[in-house]
Amino acid sequence: MKIIIKKLDSKFFNIFSLINYTFIDLTLFFNFYLNFKKTKVYLKDTFPYSDELKTLKSEGVIKIKKVYNSSTIRELEKEFDYLKDNFKNLSRAKIEAKINKKFLDEQFFSKGEKYYKRFLKNIQINDPFIKAPQLLKIALNQTFIDIAKNYFNTDHIYITGVNFRRSYFNHLPASDTQMYHRDRNSYKILKVFIYLNNVDEDIGPFQYVLKSHKKWPLLSNRKYRWDDDYIKKIYGSKSIFSATSSVGDIIIADTTGFHKGKNLNKRYRTMLTLNYSTFAEKESKKVKIKKFESYPFKISDEQKNILKYTSVEA
Ligand SMILES: [Fe+2]
Repeated sequence: MKIIIKKLDSKFFNIFSLINYTFIDLTLFFNFYLNFKKTKVYLKDTFPYSDELKTLKSEGVIKIKKVYNSSTIRELEKEFDYLKDNFKNLSRAKIEAKINKKFLDEQFFSKGEKYYKRFLKNIQINDPFIKAPQLLKIALNQTFIDIAKNYFNTDHIYITGVNFRRSYFNHLPASDTQMYHRDRNSYKILKVFIYLNNVDEDIGPFQYVLKSHKKWPLLSNRKYRWDDDYIKKIYGSKSIFSATSSVGDIIIADTTGFHKGKNLNKRYRTMLTLNYSTFAEKESKKVKIKKFESYPFKISDEQKNILKYTSVEA
């Protein structure tokens, strides 16, 4: 049925999709403003990232250099490597190769990463804040919280998503997240990307269309995912920011602007993604956390409130 509607839609200039995505955009917009509590947000005079904040607001994306030292990131990568060796720690991983299997199963998994990486685009650790408790401490980083508060113009910001993922180079076609799209889980979402290895143009940097968080052509609602040619035609190739970076740098972007992960030409990229928003994201699973007292660091009452839209493990 879905395929028939899609075919019919493409015959009529994707008019159904245009109406559908415009309706979703409007719903998100009204939801955002109905739930939005504007407060006066204060930054300390010593806040070191005021310029970056300005750029983030105007361009939609920033890179901040050397936020973490390389040993901290190496620890995180080690943790990923440790977790990914147990099949139970992985979220269901879709097989993209044309073989008689839809998802990575234990049989393929047991043959090792070198083997199974040929068949899929990425693997993800499920419930990262439970499997790797130190990631929660990173998500509660005061700098990220301050940036989010100032970006959204409110003290009421929340952690609404987390993703701990390794993307592989292989010869499979670009996957969903490797085509330009705007996230539609919320009217505004801020994502912090922390690469766990150096990322150059060949290792699949995050790519963002500058200023596209502020304006996008209405007709771009005709489709969810767009190819590079369309984006270049609309915004020009100079508008594309390719977030190559060294270990320790972080990228922050409002992903309601057009973005994608570039396809890899070699090796792999491991990345932690943290989402911040002013309300729970639509159509997303709630982030799972452990009981507050089970974490090996103190979580203040203010931080507990930032975790309001998570679900605590029984
Ligand atoms: Fe996205």
